[in-house]
Amino acid sequence: MKFGILLGAALLASAAFTQAAETVVDDPYLRNPGDGSNWPGHGRDSGEQRYSPLAQINTDNVARLGVNWALDLPGERALIGTPLAVDGVIYFTGTYSRTRAVDARSGKVLWEYDPKTIEHAGDRLRIMWETNRGPAYYKGKLIITTVDGRLIALDAKNGKMLWETMTIDPRRAYYITGAPKVFRDKVIIGNGGTEHEAARGYVTAYDVNTGKQAWRFYVVPGNPADGFEDKAQEMAAKTWTGEWWKHGGGGNVWNGITYDAEFNQVLIGTGNGSPWNQKIRSPGGGDNLFLCSIVALDADSGEYKWHYQTTPGETWDYNSSMDIILADIKYGGQPIKALLHAPKNGFFYIINRANGELLSAEKFGKVTWAEKVDLKTGRPVEVKGARYESGEALVWPSPIGAHSWHPMSYNPNTGLVYIPTIEMAGVFNDKGIDPVKWQSPHFSIDPGVHFGTDDVPGNWSKAALIAWDPVNQKKVWEKTLPPNWNPGTMTTAGNLVFEGRADGVFVAYNATTGDELWKINVGSGITAAPITYSVDGKQQVALMVGWGGAALLTGTLAGQHGWKYKVHPRRLITFSLDGKLPMPPSPPPAFAQPIDPPTFKVDDQLAAAGQALYTSTCVQCHGSGVVSGGTAPDLRESPIPTSLEAFKSVVVGGARLANGMPQYRELSDAQLDGLMHYIRKQARASLAKK
Ligand code: HEC
Repeated sequence: MKFGILLGAALLASAAFTQAAETVVDDPYLRNPGDGSNWPGHGRDSGEQRYSPLAQINTDNVARLGVNWALDLPGERALIGTPLAVDGVIYFTGTYSRTRAVDARSGKVLWEYDPKTIEHAGDRLRIMWETNRGPAYYKGKLIITTVDGRLIALDAKNGKMLWETMTIDPRRAYYITGAPKVFRDKVIIGNGGTEHEAARGYVTAYDVNTGKQAWRFYVVPGNPADGFEDKAQEMAAKTWTGEWWKHGGGGNVWNGITYDAEFNQVLIGTGNGSPWNQKIRSPGGGDNLFLCSIVALDADSGEYKWHYQTTPGETWDYNSSMDIILADIKYGGQPIKALLHAPKNGFFYIINRANGELLSAEKFGKVTWAEKVDLKTGRPVEVKGARYESGEALVWPSPIGAHSWHPMSYNPNTGLVYIPTIEMAGVFNDKGIDPVKWQSPHFSIDPGVHFGTDDVPGNWSKAALIAWDPVNQKKVWEKTLPPNWNPGTMTTAGNLVFEGRADGVFVAYNATTGDELWKINVGSGITAAPITYSVDGKQQVALMVGWGGAALLTGTLAGQHGWKYKVHPRRLITFSLDGKLPMPPSPPPAFAQPIDPPTFKVDDQLAAAGQALYTSTCVQCHGSGVVSGGTAPDLRESPIPTSLEAFKSVVVGGARLANGMPQYRELSDAQLDGLMHYIRKQARASLAKK
């Protein structure tokens, strides 16, 4: 007996010594992930606050932060997602959803899983961004998504695939870049595609153990003649006009899903219209439910509970796909279970999660499409002309949004929300587009307004990190950031806010005052939000370094920092107090050197045809106006489009397919010729400017 007790104690002690007890990451844990040692969910807690209770690194000592270890990630390009950290292991998805588990103590890769996205994609490679916003962790499983539409569950211990399921119809131009969310033994995911297809958005919940579908909710109604899937579709159909289903309608949920345990509901932030232009999509107007909304669904059945629409009858790409934060706040003296939401349209919303009631909505940036939100009706008061009624309008914000998907964070101690904002106008022009004859794209880009036709100047936008007081709806402090595409934020009990910058500088601010307390140059543009956790009692901050994302298509605006395709190393870097390692080297910013073979005579008519094809087909990777933002080579300096033979072998022959350059078998020599003339014209124009 005595012996038995002793033996048991000894076993326990040795187990505790070699390995702390394994954390069970389940619903209660995700709702309140304890002391801060782990970062188990996309927003750390399921309420997406991106707040850590760790305070070992704080305002007094953050200046001592240094490199703990850095892991080189050769072959990676866009790293935009949020890693997770559970029991001393960091999990992250990289380019094309390549997934790794890394020992947080040593920086050693424990396992890798490659979903072979390019091989699975086929022609969907054409519309795909190589990006992924991260995995989910649930009861020992790591769940990832791929751009080609798969949801995959891995054993978190060894990276072995447990199940995989296709979430989209492969014949349709949908894709996934978002992180899945987990709750009550289910995993939920949506998709994107509103610019590439007659897209009809939906979210699907699957059994986390088997991958079998549990329920699906459609964001917009289909053709009434086919019957409605549920009552919500019938209600939504009354807010549409014309034959919207022919163009899909849109509403795709490509980000912004939050599980709300207190009400057992899933909150989805829905996408923009397909196409953007309402004159085409729903020619007689209407609110077009449930576009650009927050919709609450019963977590067990997927049934509609309530909704709030941020942009009725959207026509500017003002989706509500930004993260939805759950917070207990005092509003009007009353404790409220609120959600906080800062979508593209530039208003900061506070909504009561119990019933969807709008409590407050105020502008957090420059907004000219609407004067205000009328709290009595809950509707925006629009500015005349903003809907480009006359065919053209200059409107703030741009389709990139006053705040894009880069996550904001909420610090319950300061009561402030830290938002990466963008002040940028959009030129909305549909002159010459016939709303009746217009056809939805299929694996190319066309939002029903002229889009991406010209380079965007480097000073076209301003960016800032703002600290927003949600209760009083006012800005408390603001820090100017380099334009244009700055990543998400993270905040801690050490009264700090961390954010990387587009120019490759990682910064820590005092959460109360905004004072800059520490910064370090990581040698490449940052697009991912940082996380923090602790190992062996030591707090670490981890950051993925890898320029990428959709806004890189904005040409010079995105390319101005010099993060040229494949020049700067991609890394996962961790920081800790008194971290002593030097920052690993990185080449200086590099810029395209356009070439101009003098014998090439540019034909303006051919170049115009080439521009149209380029803008619908090549722009999202190679950049508007043929100025690369870093996703793909800058074609102005490439010798390949100076020779039809070489150009054909890459574009038609698929010579670079394995590296992510799609194959366009259907392009004729005449079309390639047009592209070559347009590329030369752009190269020449940029040389003339110098
Ligand atoms: C989905 C993204 C994507 C799209 C869309 C795309 N490309 Fe590419 N392209 C790439 C990537 C990535 C590379 C670099 C591949 C590599 O590293 O070898 C590339 C490389 C190239 C190259 C070789 C450049 C060089 O100097 O190495 C040419 C030429 C090219 N693309 C032309 C086009 C044209 C023309 C179109 C439209 C018809 C197009 N691409 C559409 C991603 C894309």
